[in-house]
Amino acid sequence: MEPVHRSVLVDEVLRFLEPSGPESVLVDATLGEGGHSACFLQRYPSLKIIGVDVDATMAARGAARLAEHGDRVEIVNAWFDEFFSESSVRPDRVLLDLGISMYHFSLSGRGFSFRSDEPLDMRLEGGSGASAADLVNTLGARELADLIFRYGEERLSRRIASRIVDAREESPVTTSKELADIIWRAVPPNYRHGRIHPATRTFQALRIAVNGELERVERVIPLVLDRLKAGGRLGIISFHSLEDRIVKHRFRDAAAAGDYEVLTPRPVTPTEVEVRENPAARSAKLRVIERKPEAA
Ligand SMILES: C[S@@+](CC[C@H](N)C(=O)[O-])C[C@H]1O[C@@H](n2cnc3c(N)ncnc32)[C@H](O)[C@@H]1O
Repeated sequence: MEPVHRSVLVDEVLRFLEPSGPESVLVDATLGEGGHSACFLQRYPSLKIIGVDVDATMAARGAARLAEHGDRVEIVNAWFDEFFSESSVRPDRVLLDLGISMYHFSLSGRGFSFRSDEPLDMRLEGGSGASAADLVNTLGARELADLIFRYGEERLSRRIASRIVDAREESPVTTSKELADIIWRAVPPNYRHGRIHPATRTFQALRIAVNGELERVERVIPLVLDRLKAGGRLGIISFHSLEDRIVKHRFRDAAAAGDYEVLTPRPVTPTEVEVRENPAARSAKLRVIERKPEAA
């Protein structure tokens, strides 16, 4: 099974999260297809990894990729915030590579991409909670516009929401292509030929809302900081400003309280070479925080 996803900022992550010693445990809290984990296991032969992913398909793909490392790897199928609130593990390295993987866009069949014609689902945890289609077909115009504005930073949110509401009066919006076409028709022509497809921000907003992504990031950071061993490090890769803002502020607050130090005064971003080879990496930002060695 060939991995679809290309890991970002690999050298930088390996350097910042280099194990502290032979007993080191890394929680890869967004395992995906295990790209980062595979590099860690190869580079650091005594490292153990707990790989967490809420998407059962991804957890299985990650497990298959890392199977050759035997009992150095444990796989947990859970939301990362729930994992850290329930598990008693005290890791010294934690990685969060936020968002979804290329697999979700290209092969999951769950409507994450406006380029596909698939059921408009977008749930990472199969079958539980409201799907993207549920939100699009049931929220009021105002709520839908607020959601698209808040999580997509889409300035045409009202116009898009109102067109969605008009369209669903004819028949419910059930596929990613139907939604992408409605958005395409809703926006002015000059918006159709910008740097990104006009549906990009609305699709991002729906995905974030469906999976409670920002709330989970808010929740997980203090849980991880509390769990880290002295000298332990948390690295977070984010892909849009909404996430990065949360990470930046939470890290800054933790450092101000005394027991933690931010190791990346500015976020680490991909080199030009990486962006050329993997355009999906272009918006990645890595921030790393350390629990001071003398703190308990
Ligand atoms: C960007 S991908 C990780 C890619 C991986 N680092 C690699 O190099 O192959 C993010 C993964 O995290 C999972 N995920 C996203 N939010 C999550 C959450 N709150 N809890 C657990 N898993 C999550 C997604 O299902 C996805 O597989």
